[in-house]
Amino acid sequence: MALDLTLSHHLSSETKNRTPNPMKEIWRLAQSTPGIINMANGDPHHSLYPISEIAFRVPSISQDDPVNAWRKGESITQTLTSYKDEPSAVSLRSALQYGSGAGLPEVRAALEQLMTVMHPSPSENHFVTLSLGNADAVTKCFRLLGEPGDAFLAEEFSFPGMTNAPLAHKVRWVPVKLDKAGMIPEDMERILREWDENKRGRRPHVLYTIPCGQNPTGSTLPSERRRKIYEIACRWDLIIVEDDPYYFLQYDKPPIRTEDVEKDGFAKTWARNLAPSFLSLDTEGRVMRIDSFSKIIAPGMRLGWITSNPLFASHLENLIDSSTQHPHGLGQAFIAEMLAGKDSWQIDGFARWVKSLCDEYQQRRDFLARLFEAELGNSGYANVEIPEAGMFLWIRINIEKHPRYRKDQAGKSNSRALTEELFNHVREAGVMMMPGYVFAIVDAEENGSGPNAIDERSNYFRTTFVGIEETMEKGMAIFGSAVREFFAS
Ligand SMILES: Cc1ncc(COP(=O)(O)O)c(C=O)c1O
Repeated sequence: MALDLTLSHHLSSETKNRTPNPMKEIWRLAQSTPGIINMANGDPHHSLYPISEIAFRVPSISQDDPVNAWRKGESITQTLTSYKDEPSAVSLRSALQYGSGAGLPEVRAALEQLMTVMHPSPSENHFVTLSLGNADAVTKCFRLLGEPGDAFLAEEFSFPGMTNAPLAHKVRWVPVKLDKAGMIPEDMERILREWDENKRGRRPHVLYTIPCGQNPTGSTLPSERRRKIYEIACRWDLIIVEDDPYYFLQYDKPPIRTEDVEKDGFAKTWARNLAPSFLSLDTEGRVMRIDSFSKIIAPGMRLGWITSNPLFASHLENLIDSSTQHPHGLGQAFIAEMLAGKDSWQIDGFARWVKSLCDEYQQRRDFLARLFEAELGNSGYANVEIPEAGMFLWIRINIEKHPRYRKDQAGKSNSRALTEELFNHVREAGVMMMPGYVFAIVDAEENGSGPNAIDERSNYFRTTFVGIEETMEKGMAIFGSAVREFFAS
């Protein structure tokens, strides 16, 4: 692959100092030399694997609304089989062997095809590297780019599983303000414009964003904002780490027309309804897009993929070669069979399944939103925005209406203390929801104090609608009465 070095100044010293794993270099040479007798590596011979085939029983995609049929146990099913000694999308001989850090070529090719359909990008210079899910991918990207002392931008409420990781490498976070439509481009631009490198060190060169169904706030960036943010990233030379596990779960989209599906296929037609990813806007190779099978197949698959420019892809592979080696072979065998196997789902079938899953989650979102309305809608104690994507409702507690709400002379309130009190009250009543302050990105300079501190805006609870109706009914009833009791206290 041709490496464009113009973005190499974004790489961390750790990345630049990392040398390729010399054994992997020789392994690769052996793989690419036909007829070579390979006595170099301790690769167990496939005749000694105690597995000859793996059959995955899956729902058939031939039925309308496959998720509904599957959930009710009424689904027609089909079997996708990977074999060791017979033809399959990926032979178990390779899937169960040590493999390439970037993933098995068959799986990468299938994912590249999926990406071309879902995210037609202005640059063809994007490569797919497999990961062990988005958590693995995002944290590897942070290591690729993050230098001790660097400041990265993120939405002011973000997913701590990810934002915690680079703190150990002494990367600081700088929060960008959010509203109902997600990150505010003007605030991002303001931070970059006002940044004084003499006082604050290197200007942020990485933006970490969750563009669809943002975790925790549920917001989805409209196309216009995405274009503005991308344009700002180009102007100020930022790399965008686009963490998008909820991309496939975008709700309230226009119906898919049969005549369009007949002409262009299901996946391509559906993709036109979805928000354009940053990757699809990426003319300069500055987007590292991160996808996962966790929310759309199963989290235990531990499989995802990073789409990036070839320079970053090659450094990612170096990092993988000297750490996790490569993702799980059985998972890769399943993905290859599902996306590219003979008579299998293929890309269009996969899109049909995921669209059906999306419809299911949309119903669950509406169900939980109705329960919320019934419990607290008219109370004035709390309100909620209906998210356009993802898995979460972000409930605002109108803490300023609490009888014990106070502000000191500097304008700082007791909002955080009251939110913590409510969290404990709700938990003791028997329901767990995530309090907003868990997700707050504290501006290192502001140090969490003052009237503009994030604590003043953390009076939220994140709750999920992925559960079954019974769980949501019980949970929301308890939450509703706990909130009413709290406001009466
Ligand atoms: C924004 C975000 N990033 C990453 C992850 C982790 O995903 P994975 O299971 O693919 O590692 C999650 C999971 O909840 C998430 O919400």
